[in-house]
Amino acid sequence: MNQKPKVIVSAPVPPDLREQLAERCEIVEVPTGQNPAEVLGADARATIEGMVCTVRTKVDQALLDALPALKVSSNFAVGFDNVDLAAATQRKVLICNTPGVLDGAVADVTIGLMLCLSRNLVAGDAFVRSGAWTKGAFPLTRDIRGKTLGLLGMGRIGRVVARAAQAFDMKVIYHNRREDPQAEGLATYVERDELFKSSDVLSMHIPLSAETRHSIGKRELSLMKPTAYLINTARGPVIDEAALIDALRAGTIAGAGLDVMEQEPLPADSPLCALPNVVLQAHVGSATHETRRAMIDLAVANLMDALSGKTPQAMVNPEVWQARA
Ligand code: DGY
Repeated sequence: MNQKPKVIVSAPVPPDLREQLAERCEIVEVPTGQNPAEVLGADARATIEGMVCTVRTKVDQALLDALPALKVSSNFAVGFDNVDLAAATQRKVLICNTPGVLDGAVADVTIGLMLCLSRNLVAGDAFVRSGAWTKGAFPLTRDIRGKTLGLLGMGRIGRVVARAAQAFDMKVIYHNRREDPQAEGLATYVERDELFKSSDVLSMHIPLSAETRHSIGKRELSLMKPTAYLINTARGPVIDEAALIDALRAGTIAGAGLDVMEQEPLPADSPLCALPNVVLQAHVGSATHETRRAMIDLAVANLMDALSGKTPQAMVNPEVWQARA
């Protein structure tokens, strides 16, 4: 009889890691992003104990109902806004994620977007390619040196961004639910409105939750300087995108660098794609070979640990684990 626990793999697990997983678990494949409740029949679902998935899998009440034996769902992401955490916790399903291993990669894209916006690098590339340079010089851009970088959210990623900004001689301010002792020497705490008013570049580093959804709207955007840039590498819906598009069109802020949007993948007919003062990326903050490997290693380790009784490295609802112990 096969004693191995059955696990859904709905994430890009590389072959060598898949082999390790297969030694300890029976793997049930679900294509990434597809709903296991639709892909698998009731019999196959009934005995699933674990799952590793991307943020494209909605771990909601309906999926939890469809997977009655589920003990752990391991997100191949640090964000877990795809999970109904209250429902999972109530059903004693442990949720794991991948914090720590992607901080540098996401911070790099944040800094990259800041430089693209301030120095107009994307337009500069098109200017040269089109031959426009032969007819005149590229318009002047703006320094970031000596400017103020505001961070909304000062967690692991925010701190790496703050450290990187020091290399650009930027003054860094932040707002968080509470002052962060680890930010001491890196960034100065300010009230929320002050952050919007004083930042030359304002970068989002908050998770998406019911409280943060659309928490940056018309009012917050109207506090910003007309020369300021907004950067979002966190989650699209933390910003009211319609209000942002209005502000960008009206020029009440200078530009935006967005790695995340309300709708992903972003359709080409989105108004964002038509705005010249926006730089867009395809939710690639953590999308490097090295970082994604570290993330999937951690996600699979979390899954295997949880199923073998070892405390996983990264748990979103550790109270579930503690209750089991
Ligand atoms: C994360 O890890 O949350 C990244 O944004 C990928 O979704």
